[in-house]
Amino acid sequence: MPDVTLDGPLGVLAELTHACPLSCSYCSNPLELTKRSAELSTDEWRRVLDEAADLGVLQGHFSGGEPLLRRDLVDLVGHASGLGMYTNLVTSAIGLSRPRAEALRDAGLDHVQVSIQADEPVLSDRLAGISSFEKKIEAARLVKELGWPLTLNVVLHRQNIDRIGAILEWVEELEADRVELANTQYYGWALRNREALLPSREQLEHAEKVSREARERLRGRTDVIYVIPDYYSQYPKPCMGGWGSRQLVVGPEGNAWPCLSAHELPLPRANVREHDLSWIWRSSPLFTAFRGTDWMPDPCRSCDRREVDLGGCRCQAFQLTGDMHRTDPVCVLSPDRHIVDEAVAAANDPAAAPAAGSSREPVLVPMPEVSVRPHRAD
Ligand SMILES: C[S@@+](CC[C@H](N)C(=O)[O-])C[C@H]1O[C@@H](n2cnc3c(N)ncnc32)[C@H](O)[C@@H]1O
Ligand code: SF4
Ligand code: SF4
Repeated sequence: MPDVTLDGPLGVLAELTHACPLSCSYCSNPLELTKRSAELSTDEWRRVLDEAADLGVLQGHFSGGEPLLRRDLVDLVGHASGLGMYTNLVTSAIGLSRPRAEALRDAGLDHVQVSIQADEPVLSDRLAGISSFEKKIEAARLVKELGWPLTLNVVLHRQNIDRIGAILEWVEELEADRVELANTQYYGWALRNREALLPSREQLEHAEKVSREARERLRGRTDVIYVIPDYYSQYPKPCMGGWGSRQLVVGPEGNAWPCLSAHELPLPRANVREHDLSWIWRSSPLFTAFRGTDWMPDPCRSCDRREVDLGGCRCQAFQLTGDMHRTDPVCVLSPDRHIVDEAVAAANDPAAAPAAGSSREPVLVPMPEVSVRPHRAD
């Protein structure tokens, strides 16, 4: 039964492609990446954006992979902007040339988020898998020059977290309006590489202290957002503000998801080529599976925090326990918390998890390449 009282999503995250010139070992994208030939066409994306606007979506986030690899990006941003959406480009910035940036500005792009790997070239390029540091700096400066608000996103992990002070100085120099210091979320390639990425408690305490100090120092100039690491928390976060409650993700091949990592879950697919977004959002078995609290097992069912964190992340529960219905193992009340504790213990055992740069450091498995040729837009 469709829920006619349900509000629509606030934002749509359009993952235009999985192709990317970079191969970050911490990338949360799936182990199985969508081929370019399977991607939605320009007309299909336009229809998706129309249907999203009809559902009441106010924000269009264009991401990937690398969204700049889509030749039709300017067209799609212009389309979303014409529908009245606030448009945001989530990018590695590789491919953000001046003409492209100017075309995006003219199409109505409102905001740019650039991801950076580290503050210094050798580490940055090693983490990105290609030489990209200088291009990122140039692109970040261009974003400011063209008058966009600039958010920098830095995924923090064992390999870069000790440089947080230098990273923040660099953020200041680039005059970013906002910086997201996002501790790695262990999905996709990041879960595969968790052993090499999970920082120690000591590293985290240092990073928290430095980011707190920076938040004070940069107040009024740069918003410093520190995303707390799941594995060191007592309770999980309410993933995406609740399953099927605020955000809608559409993947390159048209599969819609309530969250970025839900493609791993054994649930029936809901594809925009077969259904309109309204049905997908309101009535599909996928979007209704974990909406609200009725689906919860104990200990969540009888817990006072069930409306606060909604039982945590279904994808994390599935990836760590094999059962998507279980309480998120990050929760200290979960019967599966030992899985997280064991990973944390290993990260804090110098013998088991050697320091970054040491010869015994676990090997990072880079993402494989999906063709980075620009897509032939319709
Ligand atoms: C998957 S990327 C796609 C867009 C673009 N390629 C980029 O890197 O900015 C979207 C955002 O997720 C961030 N990200 C990637 N892997 C992550 C992870 N494991 N945990 C937290 N954030 C992650 C990136 O830094 C980026 O800001
Ligand atoms: S996080 Fe890195 S590998 Fe993943 S899509 Fe973004 S730039 Fe590409
Ligand atoms: S038991 Fe469930 S609802 Fe309670 S804190 Fe843990 S995850 Fe949240």
